[in-house]
Amino acid sequence: MEKPRLQIALDTYDLPSALAPLQQAAPHIDVIECGTILCLAEGMRAVRIIRSLFPTKTILADVRIAEAGSLISKMAFDAGANWVSVVSGATMNTVQAVMKEATQRGGQVQIELIDGWTWEQAKQWCALGVPQVITHRSRDAEAKGELTWGQKDFDEIRKLNDLGFKVTVTGGVVPQDIPLFKGVPVYVFIAGRGIYAAPDPALAAKTFQDAISKTFA
Ligand code: 5RP
Repeated sequence: MEKPRLQIALDTYDLPSALAPLQQAAPHIDVIECGTILCLAEGMRAVRIIRSLFPTKTILADVRIAEAGSLISKMAFDAGANWVSVVSGATMNTVQAVMKEATQRGGQVQIELIDGWTWEQAKQWCALGVPQVITHRSRDAEAKGELTWGQKDFDEIRKLNDLGFKVTVTGGVVPQDIPLFKGVPVYVFIAGRGIYAAPDPALAAKTFQDAISKTFA
């Protein structure tokens, strides 16, 4: 099984607050996420500046497209993103429009699985050639105390992988969670607060990478 990548989610309210921890953690990071919060706060300028500082890193613009797929994905790709996110509630027309932009630019599309998505939709995303999905424990679920990753999540990841998707795991992930995923085909682990809000972001990112290497050796 391929070793999962580590993605830092930058969900800060301004760019300087994102750049400081990013500069420290970057050597241990595979994918940089310009988080939804940062994109809303700073716009595509955040993606543009992070691209200029990290010309060779994979960048996700977590713009969570729900509509106007062509226009929004174009903005993100023009700013330097490699990947863009689309919410699972978007229509297939929107997904198709984003896929068209992505294909023309060598980018990739991730569907963010929000409560209520169906396997019928998953098959349609597959048919449209969407390569990635994100299984997401939302902040709202976390606030309600739904904290543990369990068998239901692992089975769902395996089934999505069997359909052909690369599967990303996110939502309050801490290094102690990683061993729970042993043998589960995870493409990317995302950590936001666990890295950018840590006292030592470089050490935090390295701790994640060490846990990933040990679990998926
Ligand atoms: C917020 C998100 C975050 O980017 C994602 O959940 C990772 O952040 P954290 O590790 O801080 O939960 O999608 O809705």
